[in-house]
Amino acid sequence: MSLDMSRDEAASKTPTEFRAKFTTFAESTKDDWDKIMVQLETTQARVADHIIEQLEYLRHDFGGFPVNRLEHCLQTATRAQRDGRDDEYVLCALIHDIGDNLSPYNHAAVAAAIVEPVVSKANHWLVANHGVFQGYFFWQHIGLDPNAREKFRDSEYFDYTAEFCAKYDQVAFDPNYKSEPLEHFEPIIRKFFAPRDRTGETIN
Ligand SMILES: [Fe+2]
Ligand SMILES: [Fe+2]
Repeated sequence: MSLDMSRDEAASKTPTEFRAKFTTFAESTKDDWDKIMVQLETTQARVADHIIEQLEYLRHDFGGFPVNRLEHCLQTATRAQRDGRDDEYVLCALIHDIGDNLSPYNHAAVAAAIVEPVVSKANHWLVANHGVFQGYFFWQHIGLDPNAREKFRDSEYFDYTAEFCAKYDQVAFDPNYKSEPLEHFEPIIRKFFAPRDRTGETIN
């Protein structure tokens, strides 16, 4: 996996004439924001690299599981792809646990926030709520209600998300499964997170 850090380094060395002059937002000018909005595009161009880098952090993190967290992600994505799922679904399968080492108790929300601008409402909902659907298979062992997912029974995405967990996520802990390497999925990551026209989109 090749991480191109040159763009990060270049961005950190932006000459001061290309930077805003304000010390508070209240005193900022349109000229300041013209400089910043150009750089936002540069930042978006580096998102794919940052996602790959974050996935790499999971490679050495087993967390007590039979396979490391990256292998779990690769195995989930590989199983989905080999089952004929489209690239957007495979992307979600690949990064559904990307937040595991950033916010272990709230990791689904981390991944959901990352994919939300680039995937369908159904796939965003799947990623955002996969944690409680995974619980169906093991929460009885940790003192939680395995049927907690029932609170979502009326959601139009209930069956869609339950299927993801049953077929791809909860089964992706097999040390003998031959997953595709992270490099295999790099083009999908780059395709979905490439810069695009975001005119009118809210910046949160
Ligand atoms: Fe998860
Ligand atoms: Fe998972």
